[in-house]
Amino acid sequence: MLNYLRLLTAGESHGPQLTIILQNFPSGLELLEEQLNADLARRQRGYGRGGRQKIERDRVQIVGGVRHGKTLGGPIALVIPNLDWPNWAGTMDVGPVGEEVPKVTRLRPGHADLAGAVKHGLDDVRNVLERASARETAARVAAGGVAKAFLAAFGVEIRSHVRQIEAIQAASPEIIRLDPAGSRNPEIAAFWEMVEQSEVRCADQEAEARMIETIQRARTAGDTVGGVFEVIAYGLPIGLGSHTQWDEKLDARLCGAIGSIQSVKGVEIGDAFAAAARRGSTVHDPITYDAERGWYRPTNTAGGLEGGVSNGAPLVVRGAAKPISTLIHPLPSVDLVTKEPQPAHVERSDVCVLPAAGVVGEAMVALVLADAFRQKFGGDSMDEARRNYESFVATYRPAPRL
Ligand SMILES: Cc1cc2nc3c(=O)[nH]c(=O)nc-3n(C[C@H](O)[C@H](O)[C@H](O)COP(=O)(O)O)c2cc1C
Repeated sequence: MLNYLRLLTAGESHGPQLTIILQNFPSGLELLEEQLNADLARRQRGYGRGGRQKIERDRVQIVGGVRHGKTLGGPIALVIPNLDWPNWAGTMDVGPVGEEVPKVTRLRPGHADLAGAVKHGLDDVRNVLERASARETAARVAAGGVAKAFLAAFGVEIRSHVRQIEAIQAASPEIIRLDPAGSRNPEIAAFWEMVEQSEVRCADQEAEARMIETIQRARTAGDTVGGVFEVIAYGLPIGLGSHTQWDEKLDARLCGAIGSIQSVKGVEIGDAFAAAARRGSTVHDPITYDAERGWYRPTNTAGGLEGGVSNGAPLVVRGAAKPISTLIHPLPSVDLVTKEPQPAHVERSDVCVLPAAGVVGEAMVALVLADAFRQKFGGDSMDEARRNYESFVATYRPAPRL
């Protein structure tokens, strides 16, 4: 999914810290911990999250690859300490512990418990769930923050909102998927401001109220809900990705990256699923050109991608997340060791993760786009990357009028 950049994350959900290493960003990129912490805080907000988000306020530390607020061009190393670690010190010690630590053996349907334990020959599901847990998405959000900082230097803006929770669909104005100017258009800026104010990251206030009620009802019933988030990227040049090879296609890379988010089971580019039920003549986005705007699409059913290549329109990617599988009223299951019927394991859990999943989606889109930028424009310094970018876009963008 990342063809040029490299990203590795490590660390368990209740271990001492998450560790992130990113490679192949250029030198001279301005990078401050505050920028990354803002997104970590956005990941933790949202109606329907569990108790843990209240215990912890994630804060990243940049521990390598940055000096005096600018990248050096080598690996960037980040850590996010787990503030809950002291409560887990015995259970999650790295070294051997004297006393017997209770094992988790009751398997949760829908989680990685059974498949992970069988795959690795384990008799304690904690050894699976600690890494399968979406705590790992904090690491991705921090890494995505670096990618966002890089893309912002080229005028790229990445946003997300919640389109659906359970069966409740939110309305949103078409302009947010149409105007590449993004928040430079005041109507679009106002829309995203409302999303940031909303507890479920949804600007449709009528839908928002019903979404909150649905989450409340699910919580009371000991149940969980899923839904759909949408990520939109503005200000992309034409030409990211490639039509020439399957694993270079930007749509494939985005589908993989969004599909890798815990609980996401469906990915959509533009209006793919609705378009499948329409005729071609009503689906494809007419091509226009004018001296001010250059190439421009009056509709954006394609979601900004044609032939696996960005076409200059806003990029639109959606992820469908299943309802969370840890249930307060657990489903019937089987004990991993005794093979006797047992209700599934219960632990502190979220009821709805859609607002957070959208923020993780932004991070994954940012990483894929930064990767495609690095491939297309190269450069070992930001200045070199910017020169390459500007000389390419000058080949097709009309020169600004003086
Ligand atoms: C932001 C976020 C938070 C999540 N929180 C929980 C949770 O509290 N409890 C839970 O069982 N699953 C949670 N999940 C989903 C599980 O991590 C996921 O279902 C599990 O790892 C199995 O992977 P899969 O659903 O992709 O097959 C969360 C997912 C995301 C994106």
